[in-house]
Amino acid sequence: MPSYVITGISRGIGYELLRQTSSDSQNTAIGLVRDKAATEKKISEDEELKTRTNIHILQADITDYAALKAAAEETAKITGGAVDYVIGNAGWVSMFDNFDGFRGLADKPEELTKTMSLLTDINVTGNIHLLNLFTPLLLKGETKKAVVITSGFADPDFTNEWEVAVAPLYAVSKAAVNMVIAKFNAEYKKDGVLFMAICPGMVDTGLYVNVTEEQMGKMGGLVATFQKYSPTFAGPETPEQSVNGILNVINTSSIEGGRGGVFISHFGNKRWL
Ligand SMILES: NC(=O)c1ccc[n+]([C@@H]2O[C@H](COP(=O)([O-])OP(=O)(O)OC[C@H]3O[C@@H](n4cnc5c(N)ncnc54)[C@H](OP(=O)(O)O)[C@@H]3O)[C@@H](O)[C@H]2O)c1
Repeated sequence: MPSYVITGISRGIGYELLRQTSSDSQNTAIGLVRDKAATEKKISEDEELKTRTNIHILQADITDYAALKAAAEETAKITGGAVDYVIGNAGWVSMFDNFDGFRGLADKPEELTKTMSLLTDINVTGNIHLLNLFTPLLLKGETKKAVVITSGFADPDFTNEWEVAVAPLYAVSKAAVNMVIAKFNAEYKKDGVLFMAICPGMVDTGLYVNVTEEQMGKMGGLVATFQKYSPTFAGPETPEQSVNGILNVINTSSIEGGRGGVFISHFGNKRWL
């Protein structure tokens, strides 16, 4: 009876992770969210999910250590003390730096500092606390797999080769969380816990619905670069396609297979799109 703990399941990739992992009634899917009532309401109105008794929603902002600790304690009560999979999906995609490089942000130092700090709190430190609090439960589990959802934007080779200057603050936060995964692997590999950072590809989760025309223009340049990088790239994937890939990578990866601490995509390699 595998158990999954997934953060940020209120929408987007996280909601699809909840949907797919709870589709087998033998699994227990525990979703951590900032607004429990709103998420429970959403699930109660979802024809597919509303009857699933194997879904549990817990309240925890990933930047709130006490709430995360309480969620770990609550999880232990639900599962009997062990967890098989932890997926740190919750993340913040900052729009301040999404369409510019450092040069374009240089005259807004205060907003830059504020955004970098928030990105660090959510995308990096939040996941360190999550993994510190839930690894004891993973150690008691059967499967012992922990994943954070990262981004190909955090790949220095991709950045350099394709001159991808945009989203620098977000990319720095994801590069940092890749190192978090490597450090957890360095510490826990001998205990049999697999840690991986997985990029979900480019996924349509409504991130770009409110963009301005100017931002759209910049976006077009980026998409053109993506098409040169990956001639088969046909635009963003659906959450369903992306999560199929993510779960396939999780299921087929092992420490013995050389995946401890890796930073790879939902294709299981270094191809990001
Ligand atoms: N979509 C893409 O193309 C793409 C590409 C590469 C990587 N990613 C990564 O994939 C993950 C999911 O992305 P998405 O596109 O599904 O994003 P999304 O639709 O914006 O969803 C983000 C999720 O994270 C939660 N979250 C944000 N801040 C939080 C906090 N402080 N504490 C707890 N939960 C918090 C949100 O909860 P609320 O509803 O409470 O805000 C929401 O459930 C992120 O880590 C993102 O960086 C996405």
